[in-house]
Amino acid sequence: MQRERLVLDPTARRRAEEESVLHAAPGPVLVDVLGELAWAVGDPDLLRQLLVDPRVSKDPRQHWPRFIDGEIVGKWPLYLQVSVDNMFTAYGHAHRRLRRLVAPVFAARRLDALVPSIERNTGELLERLARADGDVVDLRSAYAVQLPVRVMSDLLGIPDGMRVSFKETIDRIWNTTGTAEQALAATTDVYTLLTELIELKRAHPADDLTSGLIATRDDETDGTALTARELIDTLLLIVAAGYETTVNLIDAAVTGLLADPRQLGHVRAGRAGWEDVIEEALRVSAPVSHMPMRYAVEDIELPGGVTIGQGEAILPSFGAASNSPKHLGASAGVFDVTRPEKPHLAFGHGVHYCLGAPLARAEGRIALAGLFDRFPDLELAEPADRLAPLPSILGNGHVSLPVRLRSGQLGGSDREATSS
Ligand code: HEM
Repeated sequence: MQRERLVLDPTARRRAEEESVLHAAPGPVLVDVLGELAWAVGDPDLLRQLLVDPRVSKDPRQHWPRFIDGEIVGKWPLYLQVSVDNMFTAYGHAHRRLRRLVAPVFAARRLDALVPSIERNTGELLERLARADGDVVDLRSAYAVQLPVRVMSDLLGIPDGMRVSFKETIDRIWNTTGTAEQALAATTDVYTLLTELIELKRAHPADDLTSGLIATRDDETDGTALTARELIDTLLLIVAAGYETTVNLIDAAVTGLLADPRQLGHVRAGRAGWEDVIEEALRVSAPVSHMPMRYAVEDIELPGGVTIGQGEAILPSFGAASNSPKHLGASAGVFDVTRPEKPHLAFGHGVHYCLGAPLARAEGRIALAGLFDRFPDLELAEPADRLAPLPSILGNGHVSLPVRLRSGQLGGSDREATSS
């Protein structure tokens, strides 16, 4: 007998509807993720609980029978996400080892050392945007995409000539509407680019994250070095995470502020800071909606009578869990920068908590402060509810974000209207 399941829309046009179903369910909801079944968890308390439960693994090689039996293959659009060999898909000791090897390389490029690069890149991009003052531009491609791509490329030492190819290929990986052949081609292309990058950095090491990771790979002294596969897949994780997610954060924050000008007014009047804007954007529109996959190491009985069977897949629904009405009530879906509490799970929870969260927050803050300082009268050129969503089950953003750039001063009455 076929079990009842919610089929997740790969185009993301039904995301709000799907989130309502997850919010209304007392426990996990069986979903069809591009042909594979999983228990989606959008209840924030249950998700927090499962993310720290040792009976929940991220390693399909050990704990997903469908993967072990060869049923999950490259043609499944999310194959790459689950099959990579890095901290993202590791469990227990293996995860601690991989995260411990990589975390110091991140720490070595501490956030305060990255801030000047974020500010310089923001300044250059705003200068470029200023040439289109008065015009309608797609702020996503002209700004929200450009900043993380520049910052991450600087961090990783990706040369100018490879940045566009990386960005386009990563976009194809996040897109969940392609054919099986397109998914395979995107995988091949991203590995070709990463191999080129590693060869380049091995020949010309520099003070960047890629060279640091290569050194970790090549340091065989204590037998714990990254394997060749772990090196390339760790780089893939960092590029994929760093290029796409922060874009969605900036996109969500700008959309939230412009869709309801009172919100921008709160910031201008000092009733809220840029940190509030960032946290509220993460809460209402988590940049990563669902993150495949986790697997039950043994049967997990949940209150309410649902048992997640051993070997069954679990899909953390970070988006639904973050904007859940469970604790904030019916207004949970409303973007309100003045809320005293903005709890969310946009960066995950537990041992896999996002390693790039401080960087993403800093990029978002600097990007927004710079943008609204340079263009105080920025406005949406299309109603927010008409913006097309990115065609992705995973990433949550817009295909484009048309805005009118306006650096000129508003008249007094207009200004008052936006700040009341
Ligand atoms: C707004 C931006 C970002 C969001 C919303 C985000 C979201 C997430 C989430 C939800 C996880 C947990 C995945 C899970 O538990 O299954 C995660 C993990 C991770 N993120 Fe981010 N991320 C962002 C930016 C970044 C950036 C800029 C980097 C790198 C510079 C990064 C690197 C990572 C890494 C390496 C992990 C894996 C950690 C582990 O498995 O132990 N992220 N991220």
